[in-house]
Amino acid sequence: MAWEVGEAGGFMLREFQPGDADAVRELFAEGMSEYGPALCTHMLQQPWVMLTLTGTFLLLVATVHSLLLPALVLALLLAAGHLVLSQVWALYIRRCLSEDLKDIGEAYAQHRNARFWVAEAGGQVVGMVGARPEEGHGPSGVLVLKRMVVRRDYRGRGVGRALGRAVLAFACEQGCRAVVLVTHSLQREARNLYLSLGFCPEAAQPLPTFYGRLADFMLTRYRYDLAPGD
Ligand SMILES: CC(C)(COP(=O)(O)OP(=O)(O)OC[C@H]1O[C@@H](n2cnc3c(N)ncnc32)[C@H](O)[C@@H]1OP(=O)(O)O)[C@@H](O)C(=O)NCCC(=O)NCCS
Repeated sequence: MAWEVGEAGGFMLREFQPGDADAVRELFAEGMSEYGPALCTHMLQQPWVMLTLTGTFLLLVATVHSLLLPALVLALLLAAGHLVLSQVWALYIRRCLSEDLKDIGEAYAQHRNARFWVAEAGGQVVGMVGARPEEGHGPSGVLVLKRMVVRRDYRGRGVGRALGRAVLAFACEQGCRAVVLVTHSLQREARNLYLSLGFCPEAAQPLPTFYGRLADFMLTRYRYDLAPGD
């Protein structure tokens, strides 16, 4: 059943319907792929990457006494790095699509005390967000806000804020203690959005894998505590 949260700025929020599945998955993949280039730039800014590239370049210049070969090797290294990072990022997106976004209706079903909303404009899905109880917590424990994305041409019109508020309203309705979410260091707009909604950041932690530490890929958990009766 559709639950209309409100209408403003030319869009309307409603609950996910099975017919939205493809559009939602496509929007998620689109929104997340935007961070591919930002990830490459972030990697290039890592001191060990700069040192390795500069060192290789200088070593080759000193060895072959020419600029052509070192420049070619540098270009090849950059292209290979770009390719590897693009693949890693694409893998991450595919993993998300094979988890809760594979069967959204089931993953966010009412009997799981979860919900998924879409923002609709002109008959198209232009925004999305989900909310599920945190693992190990009961229905009135901690709710996790997930998969927030707004289509590029609908950003800056309050869609993200409306989706965030829908999650907070749902958490109140469920009697939850708090709403939490995790962002990564490249998601500047998202961080501002959550801060403006009243979420508080906890200490940033590196992605707990070898590659996460190598890339200095920081994750920040945000929390919104709900007082009883909110
Ligand atoms: C983050 C995102 C959902 C924001 O959606 P949006 O509809 O543009 O957000 P809103 O218009 O409701 O803006 C709400 C607040 O977000 C912040 N914000 C939005 N766009 C911003 C930008 N380009 N730069 C800085 N802050 C921005 C601002 O604090 C803004 O409040 P203000 O308008 O009072 O300044 C959207 O940029 C997006 O889909 N990004 C890609 C996917 C993503 O990162 N998702 C988050 C996963 S955790």
